[in-house]
Amino acid sequence: MEAQEIEHIVVAGAGTMGYSMAQIFARYGYQVTIYDLAQAALDNAATRIAQGTDNLVADGDITRDESDELLARISYTCEKDCFGTCDLMVESIVERLDVKTSFYREISELTRPNAILATNTSGLSINELAAAVKLPQRFIGMHWFNPSHIIPLIEIVRGDETSDETANAVRDLARAIGKKPVVVQKDVPGFVANRIQFAVLREALHLVETGVVDAQGVDDIMRHGLGLRYACLGPLQIADFGGLDTFHHIASYLNADLCNAAEPSPLLAQLFGEGAYGVKAQRGFYDYTQGRDVEATRERDEAYLAVAKALGKL
Ligand SMILES: NC(=O)c1ccc[n+]([C@@H]2O[C@H](COP(=O)([O-])OP(=O)(O)OC[C@H]3O[C@@H](n4cnc5c(N)ncnc54)[C@H](O)[C@@H]3O)[C@@H](O)[C@H]2O)c1
Repeated sequence: MEAQEIEHIVVAGAGTMGYSMAQIFARYGYQVTIYDLAQAALDNAATRIAQGTDNLVADGDITRDESDELLARISYTCEKDCFGTCDLMVESIVERLDVKTSFYREISELTRPNAILATNTSGLSINELAAAVKLPQRFIGMHWFNPSHIIPLIEIVRGDETSDETANAVRDLARAIGKKPVVVQKDVPGFVANRIQFAVLREALHLVETGVVDAQGVDDIMRHGLGLRYACLGPLQIADFGGLDTFHHIASYLNADLCNAAEPSPLLAQLFGEGAYGVKAQRGFYDYTQGRDVEATRERDEAYLAVAKALGKL
């Protein structure tokens, strides 16, 4: 199957990621079916997609007629018939190996042999999931980033058995919907983006725990310094500009002092134990009570959008 042959896409799982991915596919002209076990999840997805298209109209990104056409391309179902007619299935169900494995065992039997099956898993092993897939050469990771209507990156993660044809088709499809795909050649835990994100988080928490800087300080250092650079350049480009001789000298005394703890940091474990899960619990490293959760989410989305637009990424 090549990207140009893809017409009907099933998005399995109507949660935080699924509804948003479905809306993007429909915006680019694909026929989309959203499948979920729970009718309530489908109803919620329909409401959020309607709100999303209203926002696109209000922002002048699409007309009301285009919004109506977009909405008409999406259908919602708890029935499995949709799997028999799709060209691509993107699975975005709960992040549990046992649930995903039994899903693939059943669904890969229902899909046509040339249909592509892609998983939005954040970090489960593509090879372990592939073991439950009939014809695993058509199975691949398609890892989107939240909020997926704003963040351009999609990691395309190959398993050992993924064919070139499958990898190329999913990469080309991602480009066709305006995304910036990167093919990850090997299935390693966390793929690439989460490995880098967690390396940064581990060091940031270590610096806070050892009293070098407070939480606000570490976030300010990222936002006003490193983050601004990283929005424009990758770490290897930054090293080229800094001078690889200087970076080599620094690495030779600094690397040995960086945190290399294998367990989650004590501060993260403590907040986790207290149920302080961050914005969704209204408490994490910061306080999000009294409406600050909604305000912080709005401010974040506005900032992401402004930066992405300014850099021409959207
Ligand atoms: N939330 C994020 O920031 C994010 C980012 C990237 C990737 N992901 C990945 O995307 C996937 C979904 O995450 P989410 O945050 O959207 O989850 P979610 O909990 O919001 O939604 C999951 C949905 O899957 C449905 N579901 C569960 N089991 C099912 C089954 N067997 N068949 C059909 N539907 C089923 C649930 O009813 C629910 O609607 C996970 O693999 C997650 O790791 C999440």
